[in-house]
Amino acid sequence: MHPVLDTLLDRTVALGYGRPGFLLRQRSWSTMPPDALSGRTALVTGANSGIGKAVATGLAMLGASVTLVVRDPERGRAAVADMAAAVPDADFDVLRCDISDLTDVHRFAHQLAQRTERVDVLVHNAGVMPPARTESPQGHEICLATHVLGPLLATDLLAPALARSAAARVIFVSSGGMYTQPLRVDDIEYRSAPYRGATAYARTKRMQVVLAQLLSARYAAQGTAVHSMHPGWVDTPGVADSLPRFRRLAAPLLRTPAEGADTAVWLAATDVAPGGFWHDRRPRPEHYLRRTRESDTARETLWQYCASATGIDPR
Ligand SMILES: NC(=O)c1ccc[n+]([C@@H]2O[C@H](COP(=O)([O-])OP(=O)(O)OC[C@H]3O[C@@H](n4cnc5c(N)ncnc54)[C@H](OP(=O)(O)O)[C@@H]3O)[C@@H](O)[C@H]2O)c1
Repeated sequence: MHPVLDTLLDRTVALGYGRPGFLLRQRSWSTMPPDALSGRTALVTGANSGIGKAVATGLAMLGASVTLVVRDPERGRAAVADMAAAVPDADFDVLRCDISDLTDVHRFAHQLAQRTERVDVLVHNAGVMPPARTESPQGHEICLATHVLGPLLATDLLAPALARSAAARVIFVSSGGMYTQPLRVDDIEYRSAPYRGATAYARTKRMQVVLAQLLSARYAAQGTAVHSMHPGWVDTPGVADSLPRFRRLAAPLLRTPAEGADTAVWLAATDVAPGGFWHDRRPRPEHYLRRTRESDTARETLWQYCASATGIDPR
């Protein structure tokens, strides 16, 4: 597709983020080789439903061995049963981890280290949009814990396993909703009232995009590429639960989970410059509004806070 038309679709939001954008853009994409991820090991958080399940399926279709990282193993195994029907020869595994619980992330990383020496692909997909302010077991606001702190700690604990890959890729599934929010380092834990779940969600999705860039620099020397992306508007159980009105109004425009998953799967299988924010296989701007631009100081404040909260070495 001509880049100008692609950009115009993006700026309309509804057409670009919805199904029409995907269907028009995909016409110019080449098919990924069916063995693009053969011999690779992949982890996908929140892979028992929606986009995560579709990412796991897409990675398996390209030959990866995929571990579903889920907080309810029974639901993870039910997802595997569905996925095995779609990709019969695939190698799936299920591991329990509540990514919002830093203690559980430590336990999970330890358990994973007993099973595998190398991780090639890590997709941070797990997401929440809570109706009210709740906290993780360590007392962090739940969107921050699920989207930022848990993924940061998991990535850092798995960094040695990622370093053993010839082409490691870490992918944050962010959201176009992050365009509405600046990096709020004055209230990282969202303690000021009134609390809105959609705002907490968008703030932490903005943090994911910044964090992906920071981690991209942190792991550059070990050859681990870190990206963020947004899937567009996708019909998933999460949208049905958290945004029923939006789902009803936007129904004709919503993508399938596989369509929403496409760019994450493509990034896992493709060598592109790290640190970008992607949608429909193209890097996209990180800001449309001047008021959302952050300073280097704000990025550093976020980094120091997250490093301290997770106990990782900030250097
Ligand atoms: N759908 C969209 O239009 C859209 C748009 C932009 C971005 N996204 C992003 O896409 C990702 C997937 O969302 P979705 O729409 O597919 O929603 P979904 O169907 O609700 O999937 C979310 C997944 O995350 C898991 N999860 C939540 N908290 C977790 C935790 N603490 N530990 C482990 N897993 C956890 C859920 O597990 P349970 O089943 O146990 O709850 C579920 O499997 C999210 O990051 C979301 O922000 C979605």
